[in-house]
Amino acid sequence: MRAGARQPVIDFGNMVAGVLEGAGMDPRRLRGDLAARFRDAHAEVETRRVAGEMGFFGLPHDLPLATRIQRTADSFVRECDAFVVIGIGGSALGAAALRDALLPPAWNELDDGARGRAPRLHILDNPDPDTALALLARLNPARTLFNVVSKSGTTAETMAQFLVIRRWLETALGAERARTRFLFTTSPERGTLRQLAARHDIPTLPIPDTVGGRFSVLSPVGLLPAAAVGIDIGAVLAGAAAMARRCSTSELGANPAGTLATLLHAADTEMGAAVQVFMPYADRLRGFAYWVRQLWAESLGKAVDRAGRRVETGPTPVPAFGAADQHSILQLLMEGPRDKVVVFLARAAPGEDVEIPAPCPDTPDLAYLGGHTLFELLDRERCATAEALRREGRMNMTVMVDRVDAHSLGALFMLFQIAVVYAGALYEVDPLDQPGVELGKVLTRGLLGGSGGEVPSIPPPDPRWRV
Ligand code: PA5
Repeated sequence: MRAGARQPVIDFGNMVAGVLEGAGMDPRRLRGDLAARFRDAHAEVETRRVAGEMGFFGLPHDLPLATRIQRTADSFVRECDAFVVIGIGGSALGAAALRDALLPPAWNELDDGARGRAPRLHILDNPDPDTALALLARLNPARTLFNVVSKSGTTAETMAQFLVIRRWLETALGAERARTRFLFTTSPERGTLRQLAARHDIPTLPIPDTVGGRFSVLSPVGLLPAAAVGIDIGAVLAGAAAMARRCSTSELGANPAGTLATLLHAADTEMGAAVQVFMPYADRLRGFAYWVRQLWAESLGKAVDRAGRRVETGPTPVPAFGAADQHSILQLLMEGPRDKVVVFLARAAPGEDVEIPAPCPDTPDLAYLGGHTLFELLDRERCATAEALRREGRMNMTVMVDRVDAHSLGALFMLFQIAVVYAGALYEVDPLDQPGVELGKVLTRGLLGGSGGEVPSIPPPDPRWRV
């Protein structure tokens, strides 16, 4: 562990009766029925982990893979100005979270010197021609590496953009050199990308079979882009390993992921808080909030439980950003339906801070700000918002890191991944699958005339229902 590094802590007083005004969970339950229920969930997750179904647990300890990722990054970074991830969902959101948290803001606008000659990092997920064309217009094909990331190797959005970029590269460089501008991160055995890599001798990194898309941030999916821009992936993995150790116990009171999962599950299923707002008070954690949304939504939103019963269950995760969204969503959180719980994400200290000038004789109304710092303002706003919610009996808790760095981010990734598989066990659903996204994929394929896709008969818009 980094010297002096503190692991994230979860402050959940504002969920508990006696602290939360007029509402909250009976704290005795945390040593009673909820602790017993968590022990069962822990045992179920342990069984699946030991059976090799949850490969994300093992990634922090896979040193050969980490070494291979770092060597691969080192082998090309000096020869490229830009590193472009082409991937979507779990194949993009982890890299975006790492980028937002650990690179200086506006990284891609810095000059080579300020970036330490590391490449710019772009992420192409949505197949929107406006975005793709604008990016390609800025890239030097001879000095850009395209990392196509797809576990299945068949995802339409990713593969379509790969085909567009391959033609763009071939036009600019010729087929032979175009080939050298690609690196694939994909299944070690299956899928179109794997076949293409073998046929055209394109370098690859593996996504282990037992690591699902939204659980892949600590695999080459997240770590190759991170290593390419100089992020200390060893520290990310060390933070994740330390958190996994803390979460190995079946004792609820000592297991942070267990506590997070148990409280959020109870908030939804017993206290009516089906909307779960993940609200960082740090711009660096914006990407992380979007990563959590996918992890939560795809893992827990399920039609059937593991016994095959129809349940149509799962909380609705909503990212929000403090303090900006105090001027947007807070009114609803404070006075709207009591169907929400807020999870604040906070840091004890910023990387750098800025003092607000004082005194301000010409602006006496603003004198209270002078002499404080921007971080103090932001953080006091978080404290004030949590307290205001508490006074209104609105459940909230805070996940606190000492600062946003590679170690604490690794710990946060692991905390939420373990929490979501515990939550899956508590909801009695399988957090590792996502059958609900399949139908849309099949219909898209059919609409594009692809084989194996159902050609849907979608009724044309009815003028009676248009305005
Ligand atoms: O979490 C998941 O499994 C999904 O979000 C996938 O990551 C996403 O659909 C992309 O899939 P693939 O990596 O196969 O292209």
